[in-house]
Amino acid sequence: MSETAKPRAATLAHLRSGDLAKGDPIPLPLTMASIFHSPGDATGFDQYGRFSNPTWHAVEHALGHLEDAQCVAFPSGMAAISATFFALVKSGDRILLPSDGYHTTRALAERFLKPLGIAYDVRPTSSMLDGGFAGYRLVFVETPSNPRLDICDIAAVAKTAHEQGALLIVDNTTMTPFGQRPLDLGADIVVSADTKAINGHSDVLFGHVASRDPDIIAKVRDWRETAGGIPGPFEAWLVHRGLETLEVRYDRMCSSAETIARRLKGHRAVSGLRFPGLESDPSHNLARAQMERFGFLISFELASEEKAEDFINNCALIESATSFGGVHTSAERRSKRGDAVPPGFVRLAVGCEPVEELWQAIEASLDGLAAERLGAL
Ligand SMILES: Cc1ncc(COP(=O)(O)O)c(C=O)c1O
Repeated sequence: MSETAKPRAATLAHLRSGDLAKGDPIPLPLTMASIFHSPGDATGFDQYGRFSNPTWHAVEHALGHLEDAQCVAFPSGMAAISATFFALVKSGDRILLPSDGYHTTRALAERFLKPLGIAYDVRPTSSMLDGGFAGYRLVFVETPSNPRLDICDIAAVAKTAHEQGALLIVDNTTMTPFGQRPLDLGADIVVSADTKAINGHSDVLFGHVASRDPDIIAKVRDWRETAGGIPGPFEAWLVHRGLETLEVRYDRMCSSAETIARRLKGHRAVSGLRFPGLESDPSHNLARAQMERFGFLISFELASEEKAEDFINNCALIESATSFGGVHTSAERRSKRGDAVPPGFVRLAVGCEPVEELWQAIEASLDGLAAERLGAL
């Protein structure tokens, strides 16, 4: 973690302290209200639940504290991503997306932006800079990309995008503000599926948009208020609670992932392992330069679809689930979600279990496959 992230992590749990009156609860109260007492002049206070809510203010304040930016909360990661597109692009614009990032972002462009006259192109994350960005209004990157974990140089993409008149959006879902700081590297906007590590308990969907440009924030906020895709106060409250332990959880998850990736690399059942923290990974040098941590996602291949299913389903400490970033380790065979990966490709999301116990469970499941394979020879 960088030196600037540590004070932010330390003060996160005390953000409310300055505003407390005697007898106020120390933890954040949940405000469930669609209407607020609104006599007289209608400015400067909460009035209607689609415009604002005290529990949103608290979670946006906490997220903003971590991002060092203004934040707008949304009911899911896709709602946050959609808001940036619908608030910032218009008919005739062209945008650039990763060909290997989260597939729903491309589906959004294909099914909802294209019919409105907004064109899009795709490019692999690892060669995002090739060809430059002339003619694009927005460049959207996801680094590391989900699920193959390729990386692009955020500072270089931001510089070229700005020189050529484009804005840069970074989907920072896999990293959180403790793992990577795209706004510090020159990005205009961060979007995040807080459904994942930020909430961290797999019980809520949520998202946010962060930016240091007040004009961008005003447009995104206006989109939320007008289109009405607002987060529920209870979801905001849960995410606020999750945020209070993010630094501890994320630290454990990333440290465990480093240990487990090294051991997986040496296992005979595993091939094609990707983890940006390994010196042998093609992205490692760039990862060292721009990431504060290497994340908690690891991807690798097992010999077949069946082997991958067996590995996941027979491991006592892995939940078979889509999504990632929860306290429990989970894994998914990504070809079943339509990603362009081999049938035995596994995305492993390391959770908060003690690392030696977790490794023993993973190794036991892999050894079962290897033993089966030896038996078949
Ligand atoms: C990188 C990335 N961005 C965005 C999303 C969308 O988040 P949500 O499911 O909260 O809409 C996901 C979901 O898996 C994701 O992995």
